[in-house]
Amino acid sequence: MAKLIDGKAIAAQIKDECREKVAKMKSEGVEVTLAVIQVGNDPASTVYVGNKKKACEYIGIRSLAYELPEETTESELLELITELNGRKDVNGILVQLPLPGHIDEEKVLDAIDSRKDVDGFHPQNVGALCIGKPGFVSCTPAGIIQLLKRSGVEIAGKECVVIGRSNIVGKPMALLLLRENGTVTVAHSKTKDLREVTKRADILVAAVGKPKMITADYVKEGAVVIDVGIHRNENNKLCGDVDFESVEPICSAITPVPGGVGPMTIAMLMNNCVESVALQQ
Ligand code: GUN
Repeated sequence: MAKLIDGKAIAAQIKDECREKVAKMKSEGVEVTLAVIQVGNDPASTVYVGNKKKACEYIGIRSLAYELPEETTESELLELITELNGRKDVNGILVQLPLPGHIDEEKVLDAIDSRKDVDGFHPQNVGALCIGKPGFVSCTPAGIIQLLKRSGVEIAGKECVVIGRSNIVGKPMALLLLRENGTVTVAHSKTKDLREVTKRADILVAAVGKPKMITADYVKEGAVVIDVGIHRNENNKLCGDVDFESVEPICSAITPVPGGVGPMTIAMLMNNCVESVALQQ
């Protein structure tokens, strides 16, 4: 039977470490502030933003909420970002995605001061990750590295296969595994013989976006399987990109959905907020 990698417990551990660091900073007169911007009323975004605010409260980070109407123009949003970039009392700026269609997402993300880009989406931070310089790292892949390390999974020298090449998960995931000295392959929708590729993996990260697509025939016996997907099935039950029932019996460790990768994203966001203070000094 596979070991279950408990993302909820590991995220709680990271949040408690952040809480201690924030308390210490407070005692030295330093406050950490995160500005969270949401444009429009996308229900999923409202839930995510609410969870981010709750996490800030728990840790002791001051959060500034900007809930802007759907009709907000691109230039109004850019103006707000310029203002927040210039504020000495704001350490992190997060613009919740997706943005309404009339706003150019790339332009908005590029406008955030890279030293306040706690999401790690700014080209400066992506470039820094690529060449091994300090900077913010995208929260979900950074969380996956923590899941592996804190579960005692060795990455150095291992065959790592990442399925998915998005800017937010797949690409930074590959770079982080490489930084840990893994031998990394990035597979995607155009990959030929995907099963042949994924069956080589000692560590398999599935960020495909298709419910239960990764069945046992994609997985090598004894592999560590990380499931980034989150979907609702026909019975309104959550499931991942991995077919847990068929894969769990053959792998050595696996993340469940829910309670695996999901909770790590916010924990790493909090960690980035804490680290932003030192990066800005
Ligand atoms: N929308 C879905 N995930 C994320 C995330 O990690 N950061 C931001 N800013 N928006 C998102």
